[in-house]
Amino acid sequence: MTEAAPKKEQRRKFQAIRGTRDLLPPGTALWNHVEETAHAVFGTFGFGEIRPPIFEPTDLFARAVGGETDIVSKEMYTFDSSMGFAESHVKEGKILADAENPTSIGLLSDMLGAELVSLRPEATASVCRAYIEHNMQQLPQPQKLYYIGPMFRRERPQKGRYRQFYQIGAEVLENVKPDPTRDSAKELTKDAITDAEVIQMVMTFFDKLKLAGVQLEINSIGHAADNCRRGYVALLKSELEKVKDKLGADSQRRIETNPLRVLDSKLEHEQPVIATLPKIADHLCDDCKSHYAAVKRELELRGVFYKENWRLVRGLDYYMRTTFEITAQGLGSQNAVCGGGRYDGLVELLGGPPTKGIGFAIGEDRLILSLQEAKDAALAAGKLPPFVYIAWMGANAYAAAVHAAKDLRAAGVRVELPPVEQKFGKALERASKLGAQYALILGDNEVAEGTWTLKTLADGAQQKFTEPHLLDFLKKL
Ligand code: HAM
Repeated sequence: MTEAAPKKEQRRKFQAIRGTRDLLPPGTALWNHVEETAHAVFGTFGFGEIRPPIFEPTDLFARAVGGETDIVSKEMYTFDSSMGFAESHVKEGKILADAENPTSIGLLSDMLGAELVSLRPEATASVCRAYIEHNMQQLPQPQKLYYIGPMFRRERPQKGRYRQFYQIGAEVLENVKPDPTRDSAKELTKDAITDAEVIQMVMTFFDKLKLAGVQLEINSIGHAADNCRRGYVALLKSELEKVKDKLGADSQRRIETNPLRVLDSKLEHEQPVIATLPKIADHLCDDCKSHYAAVKRELELRGVFYKENWRLVRGLDYYMRTTFEITAQGLGSQNAVCGGGRYDGLVELLGGPPTKGIGFAIGEDRLILSLQEAKDAALAAGKLPPFVYIAWMGANAYAAAVHAAKDLRAAGVRVELPPVEQKFGKALERASKLGAQYALILGDNEVAEGTWTLKTLADGAQQKFTEPHLLDFLKKL
């Protein structure tokens, strides 16, 4: 029998998947600057970094974010995590028993129950899962955690909206111990202070980055009780039923699934109808009212400017009381750079102890877009170390060049050391093309004399240095 000739592989050119993109240099310098600023600013507020995994059980997000939300019902990348195993053990529809590995049958039966996992669409659920898993309620409270990383949502891609996007987020989690003597008024103020501190932290971060046109909007959506949000939602629903005919299909559907989300509508023709609906602020219980008043007071005390927006309800189910969003300039319709709020009770919903929570997530892609619009901030981030191209010629000069590169890099200077000897003219041309500010000229003569020539490429000026003086000069830059 002759073996069939292997099929010739078709050449195929690949492209990044729709809604994903490559972040490339030099643009990534601004990303690094933003992330370094986040580490620094969040550190001053006592936050520590957490790095949860990128995929989690689908059910974690369904429970936390809400099964009826757009994020969970339409936008998650979900797969059966045992599929890889299944594919290697299932052939032509038959399960292959593995005699050497009897446990594989057990694993297979688990697999047939399907273990659904999803790429994380957000990270609050993951942080709460981690808080429970690592018994963080036993650590000093509150736990203040932040994260930076990619999230995944299958949304319609457009400017500022991607299917893989990056968030910089923070969460404050605090275990609530049973205490019959607790003064509830004091407790509400304490929570409001935490909310204000968290908001102040994001605003400080944006301020450090010189983000332009920053606007903070806040609201309170009360808590799930008949004399508070539940009562309001029932009223809202009955009012919405009366004007149903004037609403679009999405809003009509939301009257049934999640009436609060109707307030989120951006449709022009729905705006006059929505303007006449009852406002939640008039239906908050006394505790939620005083908490909201305290949040505003605490923001004012910190000099944080805000605007109230009674329609700010957010698209995730876990929120209660404080909700907030921050917009910035230059982003078009996707102008929310940050969203957050309070979510007491979420940890408990995920099987943990009674815990309060408040946090936010910044859309890093949008933040970067807005910073790029305002050139100043981008320039500040572009403050790179001095860049020296070593133009060497001759065997002795080469050895000196290798040492010089090592010393200069150790001093924080960016160095390009060409692997081949080049005529000086060629070397200078290449140095300019790469964007170097200086060319360090090393020929056998320079090495013999122990003095090195540094040429400033912008104006052609030349200065002679001994090695230690050269290092001093570059370090001062
Ligand atoms: P979120 O409002 O769904 O909240 O997302 C926060 C931010 O992520 C948005 O304001 C936006 O800047 C950015 N973002 C969302 N989707 C996309 C996308 N497809 N492309 C680009 N950027 C996007 C949350 O995720 C909550 N976990 C925030 C939170 C933390 N609440 C409490 N703690």
